[in-house]
Amino acid sequence: MKIFIDTANLDQIKKAHELGIVDGVTTNPTLMNKESGKSAEDIVLSIVNLVQGPVSVEVIGRTAEEMTKEARKWFAMNPEHIVIKIPMCTEGLKAISMLHEENIPCNCTLIFSVNQGLLAAKAGARYVSPFVGRLDDIGHDGMKLVEELVDCIDYYEFDTEIIAASIRHPLHAKQAALVGAHIATIPLQVIEKMIQHPLTKKGIEDFEKDWAEFKKTSK
Ligand code: G3P
Repeated sequence: MKIFIDTANLDQIKKAHELGIVDGVTTNPTLMNKESGKSAEDIVLSIVNLVQGPVSVEVIGRTAEEMTKEARKWFAMNPEHIVIKIPMCTEGLKAISMLHEENIPCNCTLIFSVNQGLLAAKAGARYVSPFVGRLDDIGHDGMKLVEELVDCIDYYEFDTEIIAASIRHPLHAKQAALVGAHIATIPLQVIEKMIQHPLTKKGIEDFEKDWAEFKKTSK
């Protein structure tokens, strides 16, 4: 499973990137809004230069024409790495289809059903992002949707990858891996929790203590 980091914060991306585990980045308008005071272009270019992998940038237009116009502008900034995030809706599907014709990769976001994901893949989305946590929030099984979408996409051999998104805790990350999500996009605070285990912490402390005692008595 590839791991993307779900943030627009460069310091957080740097921290995860140093771990050698980051394959890409996903942003959205809410995450961009946390980086106040900087231009969107500067934020995105800094991320792309650091990560050198797919970086999803979301459009906010309401019509396919508006979305594709924004998409072309973003894509021109770095055609190797910029991916255009398009919300699932009628105009979004039209935009994905038009951008697919132009070889501009899209990540169809705000996916909450298999049917939505299937349509996005058929329109030519390179990535499809089911929101696990937001489905869990309303009493649905978000990870089941990821599992079903992976089955569907793999069965029909779409050239599309499923990104498990809205990942809220380490159990989500583990479940995404076990159901075969192609990618999970994970916030830094969850990645940091994934590193930890109380027995690992205790083991390191015990080894340090034993080594110190050994050094006292060794010749
Ligand atoms: O990748 C989508 C993600 O940013 C949404 O997460 O926690 O706002 O549902 P959340």
